[in-house]
Amino acid sequence: THQWRGIIEEYRDRLPVTDTTPVVTLREGGTPLVPAQVLSERTGCEVHLKVEGANPTGSFKDRGMTMAISKAKEEGAQAVICASTGNTSASAAAYAVRAGMVSAVLVPQGKIALGKMGQALVHGAKILQVDGNFDDCLTLARGLSENYPVALVNSVNPVRIEGQKTAAFEIVDMLGDAPDIHVLPVGNAGNITAYWRGYREYAADGLASRTPRMWGFQASGSAPLVRGEVVKDPSTIATAIRIGNPASWEYAIAARDESGGFIDEVTDREILRAYRLLASQEGVFVEPASAASVAGLLKAAEQGKVDPGQRIVCTVTGNGLKDPDWAVAGAPQPVTVPVDAAAAAERLGLA
Ligand code: F0G
Repeated sequence: THQWRGIIEEYRDRLPVTDTTPVVTLREGGTPLVPAQVLSERTGCEVHLKVEGANPTGSFKDRGMTMAISKAKEEGAQAVICASTGNTSASAAAYAVRAGMVSAVLVPQGKIALGKMGQALVHGAKILQVDGNFDDCLTLARGLSENYPVALVNSVNPVRIEGQKTAAFEIVDMLGDAPDIHVLPVGNAGNITAYWRGYREYAADGLASRTPRMWGFQASGSAPLVRGEVVKDPSTIATAIRIGNPASWEYAIAARDESGGFIDEVTDREILRAYRLLASQEGVFVEPASAASVAGLLKAAEQGKVDPGQRIVCTVTGNGLKDPDWAVAGAPQPVTVPVDAAAAAERLGLA
């Protein structure tokens, strides 16, 4: 019997590792590419969801983290640090445990989802809530890694991007070629950078006949790449992408321009509509930030930007269980019944 071995073993020849690199893995990657029936009908296209919430800690960050922690271990680091809106910290904390390292995480005070905080806590991370936003946390983390014995595992660490590019490989391996369009949410802009690198690498090596157009979507209150300027006080209910000054800014613009794509924004209302559609019609429960890709695809379709017949992949980046508040809010409260079949049947509308 064999199982998926994790992205380093599956794509070893395309990653910066050697025979002596200690592989720290939770068997991340190999995530489902799920045909999206309702989205396909709505757009007249063949839409697939790359369900990254199926990774070991529930987000795409694990792809980058297996690389970052393995390399940090190879270099003899005993402690790692990151700034995070929640998912990076959850992933760093888990992989640090596997590596026998200490993890420190800096998160914006009051602005990370409870599930993510719970992950960092249960994995034993040292957590500091910073009186500031994600951008402030990243500035602080960079400063600490420069002046103290602790390795930075944010996506400004280039091996993170290397790990994350494997998602593009998996998609091409599965579909037999690159899609026409790839859609994803954009926050710190590491992931759009990584996918673009992965697609270009496969095309350059003849493993894909083309590269897709990259479509990125930011939340309206946190859309510096759309505005063309830093957003000082970013806001959105999608806390994972509440970022005003993306570290991979230039790479994201390059991915957009080289691929012939675009980066646009979606409102919180559009994000929540897509979030509910994914759960109630596709059976895929994602966190709000993840729904920004689907919200963006639907917005583009309404604007007539989506020619029918194309093959489209939307990355949904994180698991819905991380941030269930939005699933519960606004939903009807379950009713309580006695242990009585007739009463239960009546309540269920069966009688
Ligand atoms: N979706 C989710 C669920 C995320 O957690 C993030 C980023 C993104 C999308 C955006 O990806 O930053 O590569 O453009 N989360 C980071 C974190 C910032 O700290 O967990 P990006």
